[in-house]
Amino acid sequence: MPFISDTLARVKPSPTIAVTNKARELKASGKDVIGLGAGEPDFDTPDNIKAAAKRAIDEGKTKYTAVDGIPELKEAICRKFARENALTYQPNQITVGTGGKQTLYNALMATLNPGDEVIIPAPYWVSYPDMVLLAGGTPVAVECGIDTNFKLTPAQLEAAITPKTKWFIFNSPSNPTGAGYSRSELKALTDVLMKHPQVWVMSDDMYEHLVFDDFEFVSPAQVEPGLYDRTLTCNGVSKAYAMTGWRIGYAAGPVELIKAMGTIQSQSTSNPCSIAQYAAVEALNGPQDFLAENKKTFQRRRDLVVSMLNQAKGLTCPRPEGAFYVYPDISGCIGKTSAGGATIDSDEAFATALLEETGVAVVFGAAFGLSPNFRVSYATSDEALEEACSRIQRFCAGLK
Ligand SMILES: Cc1ncc(COP(=O)(O)O)c(C=O)c1O
Repeated sequence: MPFISDTLARVKPSPTIAVTNKARELKASGKDVIGLGAGEPDFDTPDNIKAAAKRAIDEGKTKYTAVDGIPELKEAICRKFARENALTYQPNQITVGTGGKQTLYNALMATLNPGDEVIIPAPYWVSYPDMVLLAGGTPVAVECGIDTNFKLTPAQLEAAITPKTKWFIFNSPSNPTGAGYSRSELKALTDVLMKHPQVWVMSDDMYEHLVFDDFEFVSPAQVEPGLYDRTLTCNGVSKAYAMTGWRIGYAAGPVELIKAMGTIQSQSTSNPCSIAQYAAVEALNGPQDFLAENKKTFQRRRDLVVSMLNQAKGLTCPRPEGAFYVYPDISGCIGKTSAGGATIDSDEAFATALLEETGVAVVFGAAFGLSPNFRVSYATSDEALEEACSRIQRFCAGLK
């Protein structure tokens, strides 16, 4: 009898973490590697947030807290939803977990039974399908290609819904494409959902603050109040406040669901780190000017990367509305041979040859459910991005 459970046979380790680790190893062995794989801002956590954490330590706020978040943080989250999203929640509708990842996982664990389907537009954040599988459900990926700028259409959503559909996972701006849905694009999707009362919406708003030009971020329960009672609005401090290592995420929704998620957390990890919770209170209540500065930097980098990648032979790189990713299509490179002699028959082969021959680490598209593409995270310095994009251009020019 195998020792490892059957559940584990259904899931795979995160490919984005694998790429980051491989790039780190190559760098440690002395290779000149530029990592464009990591999904985290390269900025440091702002000083006021760090100071709040130090204060919490000095004041002895180092003990267990309420399982799903301290009251001060839940209140700060309610104020954030009212201020930024015109959504009214009470503290008993809020749950706080160890990163956005844990709140999403808790929600799936708390609701899925075998046979329940979860609609996931592809390309998707790598963890969604595997979390659904871990929770015993069935992921239903719907491919959204470059022709719709990687966005799901109402007709595709309608066609994917069945009597077994329990959740629709919505992520705007998206990891891995950066695509953001406008108010009218989202309203067209919520109109479909209004016809199917068995379907709940899990909105992953993690990149809310990273939107460019005059793009207006909107969330499903805000666009269609009729969905409020079956929407879980998920967010966190990781990306907006450069706090990936602090591990604080949160979600808001109907009390019964929030309670069930708390039960899962109470029997698994208990409360998220007490010190990080006090830091998150400061992130949400403190000065917000840091966000505008960040946005400016990321927008400049997006423009640089999109322009340089579109000059690479065989690549087409749409210009996304947000996040810090681009997702170029590499159809024009498939079937060719690299200067180093590698056959480029898939996006995985492209990413492997790119890393080995030029030292640029990207994540191949198959990991996100849509090929042939690769994901670039531009959360790194302008100099590193310029050098990496020049190497990608040379690599593509060398394909025969
Ligand atoms: C779309 C999306 N949702 C959720 C998360 C998880 O965030 P956290 O680091 O807070 O767990 C990520 C992180 O990469 C993400 O890209």
